[in-house]
Amino acid sequence: MATMTISALQKMKQQGQKIASLTAYDASFAKLMTTEGVDFMLVGDSLGNVMQGLDSTVPVTMEHMVYHTTLVRRGAPDAFVMADMPFMSYSTPSQTYDNAAQLMQAGANMVKLEGGSWLIDTIKGLTTRGVPVCAHLGLLPQSVNVLGGYKVQGKQQQQADDTLEQALALEQAGAQLLVLECVPAALGKRISEALTIPTIGIGAGPDTDGQILVMHDMLGINSDYLPKFAKNFLAESGSLAGAFSTYVEQVRDGAFPGPEHCYK
Ligand code: KIV
Ligand code: NA
Repeated sequence: MATMTISALQKMKQQGQKIASLTAYDASFAKLMTTEGVDFMLVGDSLGNVMQGLDSTVPVTMEHMVYHTTLVRRGAPDAFVMADMPFMSYSTPSQTYDNAAQLMQAGANMVKLEGGSWLIDTIKGLTTRGVPVCAHLGLLPQSVNVLGGYKVQGKQQQQADDTLEQALALEQAGAQLLVLECVPAALGKRISEALTIPTIGIGAGPDTDGQILVMHDMLGINSDYLPKFAKNFLAESGSLAGAFSTYVEQVRDGAFPGPEHCYK
């Protein structure tokens, strides 16, 4: 059993202690992040972007997700590891259960799914069968072709209300965490206050219960692109270990994200 658990994360929310998480894709970085105090890691399907050089997560397969989940688990045997279910891998119940089983057996403690109310039965089915689920609302990268680009979500009042409603429905269905991506800070706050489960924000302002960043963004690896919501912690601290520990420290004390990293 991992040292960090879903109930420990829940307790952190209740006690107002911020959760610091990062994406991880391999054993060495997973080990270093864990040593430096990262609370949990996500094997993100962003591996399509940062590992494979793709321009979206749509081509990422179960085989890729299982492989990288195995590597992260090997590097951090006691860490809490979440794994993304990739594009179209949770469309029918039997497909969903088979794929979630593969990720859990590769070492995941929880799986993450992108989407709103259409996932209610899926979330019930998974949690009933012993698979903890993290929901994901706001910007949904797997739906980039429907959305027409990577844009901030929930800027209009109607869309914001709708996102809150979906968040409540997903919690009700049994989701035990919620990732909120690229929404105005005010909406991040509103949803975090309305839910009892922890919210983990990326570009969702300072008031979510925790933060997550893509490792390559927070290390500034792509020198010609840094998302507005990210910060180059490697430049600030001068070492990889320092980048991870500084990130954890700044999430915990609220220094990150600052107003310059937030959407209005
Ligand atoms: O794949 C990923 O890196 C993610 C995070 C952005 C939350 O889903
Ligand atoms: Na993802």
